[in-house]
Parts: sequence; structure tokens; C-alpha cells
Amino acid sequence: MSNSATPRPIRKAVIPAAGLGTRFLPATKATPKEMLPVVDKPAIQYVVEEAAGAGLSDVLMITGRNKRALEDHFDRNYELESALTKKGDADRLARVQESSDLATMHYVRQGDPRGLGHAVLCAAPHVGNEAFAVLLGDDLIDPRDPLLARMVEVQQTYGGSVVALMEVDPEQIHLYGCAAVEATADGDVVKINGLVEKPATEDAPSNLAIIGRYVLDPAVFEVLRKTEPGRGGEIQLTDALQTLAADENVGGPVHGVVFKGRRYDTGDRGDYLKAIVRLAAERADLGPDFKTWLRGYVAEEM
Ligand code: UTP
Repeated sequence: MSNSATPRPIRKAVIPAAGLGTRFLPATKATPKEMLPVVDKPAIQYVVEEAAGAGLSDVLMITGRNKRALEDHFDRNYELESALTKKGDADRLARVQESSDLATMHYVRQGDPRGLGHAVLCAAPHVGNEAFAVLLGDDLIDPRDPLLARMVEVQQTYGGSVVALMEVDPEQIHLYGCAAVEATADGDVVKINGLVEKPATEDAPSNLAIIGRYVLDPAVFEVLRKTEPGRGGEIQLTDALQTLAADENVGGPVHGVVFKGRRYDTGDRGDYLKAIVRLAAERADLGPDFKTWLRGYVAEEM
């Protein structure tokens, strides 16, 4: 049984990065959107750092057409390293090496981008019969507000699957998967009774939106194999989670961790710009100068 009494430690993280990234065209014509820089690191590096920080050092990336840049970023670059060594630039050398030392990286291709659910299903042979985490590159979680580590802890306590939830303005719920929930003894944990993808405000069972972090029971793979394409002709992960939530016998219960920390949505152009401004302003090295400039700019423009 996958949801047995003794929890097995979670070791593997899956990062789907095979989407078309149409909202960022033309930047994403030849570059995966996960490689777009957030200040001076590609968005995907923050996500791999988060997985490694939660103790998940086996990372499987689901890639699509433009996978080269992703693979190269997490690999060594000896030419660059030797040039920086010759120059004696230890700081930049350390920054270049950082990404290749984070985790053991694996890659698998999703031939056709048939939806997030289908991307997760591509991880089945690598993951096998153990619970695993899924992290979406669009959601950047501030490293000062650890979410994944808490989700892993909740999965080890409750078994089954765990999704990350965040309260949103009811007017915005149509942009997200939405959860019908009941309280548990833990203040930040809810039991999920149902899930619906991108509901209209009047149909939404709550204002709790699913954000891009999941810890899943491997039973999800069998469910995904049987899940018909849903919204947009894509195989939706939310539909498979709804099947799990509707019948605990399939893969154990589904719980949600209600996240109250800082999250940046880098999949949307406007939010991406806000994320860069906020993160740059908070940086010790860039922040002071940048904020001085920003104050002047705002005073001039407004
Ligand atoms: P999105 O819904 O944001 O789609 O996918 P997208 O193609 O990346 O971006 P837009 O909307 O066209 O701009 C959510 C996550 O699921 C992955 C994406 O890479 C992203 O991390 N995904 C989506 C896949 O890996 N495969 C798919 O078939 C679809």
C-alpha cells in the first residue's frame, strides 16, 4: 500500500518545465520561461534551491523542446570556470558553481505538452512507488518563508497527499484551482474534500487557491493514466487530485497547507516585474542603490 502506517521519507522532487510559456512570447520562443532571470538567477534556480533546502536532493525536471538551457544551467561549465579561476574572480566562480552543486539532476522529456497532469505522469518511472514533491517554476516562494519543508512534515503526519493553498481575493479565484475544505487540529492545515479548476467567483467553494507546490502519493499516477483531458484539452493535475480527494481509499487523504508567506507569481508578466523589483530592493548588494533610484523614478513619474 502506498499510504501505509509508517511514513517513508520524501526524497524526490519533480519540476515540470515543459509548458509553452505563451504569456512570455517572444522571450520564450527559444528559451524556456523557467530560464528567465529574476534579478540575476533564472527562476528555476530558486525552485531547485527550495527543493534542496527541504531535503529533496533528487530532482527530476520534465522538459520540452528547449531543454538544453535548463540542462546546461545545472551542469558544470568548465570553460567559464577556468576563465574565472585565471582572473582570480572567486566570487563569480562560486556563483557559477552554485547551481551545479545543488542536487542530483535528472531529466525526462514530455514529448507533447498535454498539460501539467501529463507532465507529472512522465515522472512515474523515475519516482516509483513513493510519495514525491512537485514544484512549479511559476511560483517563487520566498526562501525566508519555507513552505515545502512544512508540507513534507504534514505529509509524514497525515499520509496521502498535500497541496499548498493560499487565500486570494474572490475576484481572482477564477485564475486558480480552488479547494473545498474543513479545519483540522493544526491551524495551518485543512482537509480537502473537493477541488475545482478555475471556477467562476459565484461557483467557488472557498477563496483558497492551489499554488504550485504539491507532495503527492504515488497513487496519483494511476489516476492520471485514467484522467481524461479537461479544461483546455489538457490533462489537469487538479482533476486527478479531485479523484484522490473524493475517495480516500485510492491514495489516502488530501490535505492543504495554508501558506501565509511571501510568494511571487513569475508566470505572469506584470507579477514577474513586481517580483524582480521586490527581490532586487531587498538585496543587500543591489538594494540600497536600486531603492534610491526607484524613489526618484516614482517621484518623477507619478
Ligand atoms: P502553465 O499553465 O503556466 O503553462 O503551466 P505554460 O505553457 O508554462 O505557460 P503559458 O500559460 O503558456 O504562459 C504550469 C506549469 O506546468 C508546466 C509548465 O512548464 C509550468 O511549470 N507544464 C504545463 C508542463 O510541464 N507541461 C505541460 O504540458 C503543461
